Amino acid sequence: MSTGWNESEHEWWRKAVFYHIYPRSFHDSNGDGIGDLQGIIDRLDYLNDGTERSLGVDAIWLTPTYPSPMKDFGYDVSDYCNVHPDFGDLETLDRLIAACHERGIRLLLDYVPNHCSDRHPWFQDALRSRDATHRDWFYWRDPKPDGYLPNNWISVFGGPAWTFHDATGQYYLHSFLPEQPDLNWRNPKVVAAMHDVLRFWLARGVDGFRIDVMGMVLKHPDLRDNPPNPDYEIGMPEYTRLRADNSLNYPDVYSAVAGIRRVLDEYSEAVAVGEVFGPPSILAKYYGTLDSPGLQLNFNFQLIGPDSKPLPWDAERIGEIVRAFDELPAHAQPCYALNNHDRPRIVSRLNSDGFGGERARAACLLLLGLRSTPFIYYGEEIGMVEVSIPEDQLQDPARFHHRGRDPARTPMQWDANPGRGFTSGTPWLPFGPEGINVAAQSEDPGSMLSLYRRAIWTRKAEAALHSGDFRALPSDTGTFVFERRYPAASSVICALNTDLEEREVQLPDGGWSLLLSSHDGAAVQGGASLVLPPLAAAWVRQERQEGRGV
Ligand code: NOJ
Repeated sequence: MSTGWNESEHEWWRKAVFYHIYPRSFHDSNGDGIGDLQGIIDRLDYLNDGTERSLGVDAIWLTPTYPSPMKDFGYDVSDYCNVHPDFGDLETLDRLIAACHERGIRLLLDYVPNHCSDRHPWFQDALRSRDATHRDWFYWRDPKPDGYLPNNWISVFGGPAWTFHDATGQYYLHSFLPEQPDLNWRNPKVVAAMHDVLRFWLARGVDGFRIDVMGMVLKHPDLRDNPPNPDYEIGMPEYTRLRADNSLNYPDVYSAVAGIRRVLDEYSEAVAVGEVFGPPSILAKYYGTLDSPGLQLNFNFQLIGPDSKPLPWDAERIGEIVRAFDELPAHAQPCYALNNHDRPRIVSRLNSDGFGGERARAACLLLLGLRSTPFIYYGEEIGMVEVSIPEDQLQDPARFHHRGRDPARTPMQWDANPGRGFTSGTPWLPFGPEGINVAAQSEDPGSMLSLYRRAIWTRKAEAALHSGDFRALPSDTGTFVFERRYPAASSVICALNTDLEEREVQLPDGGWSLLLSSHDGAAVQGGASLVLPPLAAAWVRQERQEGRGV
């Protein structure tokens, strides 16, 4: 499919490689064991100093840094227009924005529209009485006549999505923790206030937002019961017992999306990436149309897979996912990630036979080879693993995975010193294995870090990779092969072998040379076939030959 997009700065995010930082765990500048904004400033050269010695990322997304009681580690916001003292203050954030921009790095914050903290002044006011000014900024319902819950919705973290407030005799809705009441986006005052939050940050120079659970913001107007999920199996998260028909991706949620986009468009280069869930046909709606645009980017989490069933590392399945998304209109720029702060890290996720690290290397070339705006999760580039955390040190309130999400949120490992170069104090979560660190990998050409650096800088240099079309090529069992073509420049073929055996991939027309491979032993033979070791991926390059058939 042709990309068909406008290559102006305005759409800078199409070519960009994003890096997702969990600020508590990136770098602690003041020794309190918690990462902070100054810590991120101190490490920006690692991310991009303009040379190939750095990672080379173009943009950063920070998970929430707002004041918060931290019941859900910042996704319970008590002030949308400030900074939590653990992370710094507004002045530090301003310095971070400036320091990023000096290096040509863009900065995205996390926008949490669906819910705030129960400590937010809006909810505190709503609790005062049924007539309080902010009462209808939230969803309040009487008990059913039998005294029971207003509907059957289940919180994503388990248990009912309703909590009873004795003093005013009504239930309020919370799609997550009781300490995270849902905001009522059917109230225009909520919409106006939340749009002003976007303007507050954009005016300070922030380049955009990742939007938390975008698809939950508008629910069925009558908050109807959700139907049972026929695919539910014992062992899956309680939340998935019901299909979320009336609480997620409800049809008019796209009007809220369009409203957010209009605010972004007040600032010419601002971008948003939605956290959205569903098949490509649903994701397409969040992109909107050329006449009524939605969010510029929306995550496609299918390469990670659902909580209950991580995607098996299978070329055929991966190919199906990528091809299905590629059917969407050209303006719907794909956006893939292999990891995030909610899911088990890839090296461990794909490690049932001990080869998770090998698969993660190949996954790097898949992620950065696809037509997509890729997101890299901090530590992914050094192969950080799920850390086994003693029960009494777990902090995450959500336990839909065994041991919750903490194992994927442990501090970045900069070196092998006792504080791992992360902190001079006691880290808020334990460290992973000391051998996995930036210092150990920096000068090692065979390391995961070197692979990520080379892949990112190669992608920057190759128009076919950052801007080319996508075309799936015939792929034998165990392989997924696709071509990225940029007219009048080069073509790059990306080939992935998910089998435990070597594979040979036939390349169209000849004249190909090896550009980058995840494993030693990958080789182009006679310019026309590519040998891929077990579990390897490679990029091969050909100067554009005009007139080659499609
Ligand atoms: C999705 C976020 O990624 C997750 O960390 C959070 O717990 C929920 N949304 C609720 O905000």
